[in-house]
Amino acid sequence: MTKLEAVIQPSKLDSVKEALLAIGIDGLTVLEVRGHGRQKGHTEFYRGREYSVDLLPKIKLEIVLRDETVDDVVKAILGASQTGKIGDGKIFLSRIDEAIRIRNEERGADAL
Ligand SMILES: Nc1ncnc2c1ncn2[C@@H]1O[C@H](COP(=O)(O)OP(=O)(O)OP(=O)(O)O)[C@@H](O)[C@H]1O
Ligand SMILES: [Mg+2]
Repeated sequence: MTKLEAVIQPSKLDSVKEALLAIGIDGLTVLEVRGHGRQKGHTEFYRGREYSVDLLPKIKLEIVLRDETVDDVVKAILGASQTGKIGDGKIFLSRIDEAIRIRNEERGADAL
């Protein structure tokens, strides 16, 4: 199993959700987050510590997937969220060892 984490522009959430629905993705988690990429701009020093002052609101999606669906999901997210401008966001993929459906203790990809 693979965990896909995608940080996207909040304005793209609806189109990304539609694109995921269209390819049959059921379970996902959506978080409201703040972040910055490499254009982080200015930082400020306050009492000797450096603080970022420009954390922008972003949406983060977390989806745990069967490995064979990852390519399609990445394509769907790219297609629905890419504008070509800075700040479009990022997709991260990592391995997931186990999943457990709490209701009936199903495990592995069957629990997704
Ligand atoms: N290396 C990273 N680790 C964790 N989160 C990140 C990382 N890079 C970007 N993000 C998250 O993604 C959001 C959007 O990043 P962004 O698209 O601006 O990346 P970038 O590297 O600056 O690329 P671009 O040049 O296209 O803007 C950030 O606000 C942050 O929440
Ligand atoms: Mg950026």
